[in-house]
Amino acid sequence: MNRDDFNILNSGIIYFDNGATTLKPKILSEAISDYYNNYSSNAHRGDYTLSIKASQKYEETRYLVKDLINARKASEIAFTSGTTDSINKIVFGYFENVLTRGDEILLTRSEHASNLLPWFELADKLKLKIKYIELDENHEVLLENVEKAISDRTKVISIAHISNVVGDVRPIKEITELAHKNGILVLVDGAQSVPHLKVDVQDLDIDFLVFSAHKMCGPTGVGVLYGKEKLLNDIKPIIFGGGMNADFSTDGTRIYKTMPDRLEAGTPNIAGVIGFGYIIKYLMDIGFDNIHNYELELKKYLIDGLREIPQITIYNAHSKSGIVTINYDGIFPQDLSIYLDKYNICTRAGNHCAKILKEEIHIKNTCRISLYFYNSKEEIDKLIEVLKNPNIKEEII
Ligand code: ALA
Repeated sequence: MNRDDFNILNSGIIYFDNGATTLKPKILSEAISDYYNNYSSNAHRGDYTLSIKASQKYEETRYLVKDLINARKASEIAFTSGTTDSINKIVFGYFENVLTRGDEILLTRSEHASNLLPWFELADKLKLKIKYIELDENHEVLLENVEKAISDRTKVISIAHISNVVGDVRPIKEITELAHKNGILVLVDGAQSVPHLKVDVQDLDIDFLVFSAHKMCGPTGVGVLYGKEKLLNDIKPIIFGGGMNADFSTDGTRIYKTMPDRLEAGTPNIAGVIGFGYIIKYLMDIGFDNIHNYELELKKYLIDGLREIPQITIYNAHSKSGIVTINYDGIFPQDLSIYLDKYNICTRAGNHCAKILKEEIHIKNTCRISLYFYNSKEEIDKLIEVLKNPNIKEEII
């Protein structure tokens, strides 16, 4: 699917590390270069044609994000530097002001560091309690286990839509319904879902959604923070400076702007946000249902191939995403990744920033193959072929 758009694929690289970041189609660098070469100027700060064009293009992306996730208003979307930045802004800009001692936060042991550490920090600061939703035997989240973990002190559930290691798709719609019945807010980390399937914040009734552009063919350094308007009206900035204030005086009185400007202090990543707009259109043209269905087809093909190799353990054959996590008997996962790299195959080895998942799967490190729409069955055939190499261990030593 659309392989010619990706320069790196023409060099013979097989790129299976899409959970970490994705390749970029040529239109991204063209759009960014067009901005830098032809209308480079600050956004929201100039009354001349170049700056007006930069501001318009920047704001067009906000409308595209609104359409992408079906937000009610563009003002419900702030640009950040990435998912991590977005979560920190929500945790310390919103939840720090509404949670009190003894309140409970529900997480899972398969969350990424960026959806755990900010909560640990806030829990220490406000004396909150962190609780974990039990995972089932496939390391997945079941609604009944969410229900079991809820108490009358639970105030927030913060959960990835798709885990970056197990790749399970969590039942977000059912979780938000259950949460809202109990007066609980839900923050969804969409870093591994928004790039791969249709995420509709109204249909899923998500309170806060965060994701990164670079995991969906966009630039690094651009992220999205979505929140329902009524919640964002109460969010406080944690970064202060130009662009986010309406006025201030020598005595320290100050007035901050409304959303989304309030959360976008300083000159934003104008080139990146503009480039991201082109990418959203590009992905919408391909269609998120097409992307998701094709990835599931690729995943099944990959699992079938891996099952022919008795030395391979697959940790998440059941999950409904393009993430496949494995180990090869007697080969350290990093060594396996380095071996695959000799054949130009890129995978990620390690704990994938989900450092407490080992308590569930009892394995510290794995090798992850994460797929995207530009991968092909021929690439999977090559991976299986080199994994079947009878001399694999000798080649690693
Ligand atoms: N969160 C990214 C990953 O899963 C970096 O690899």
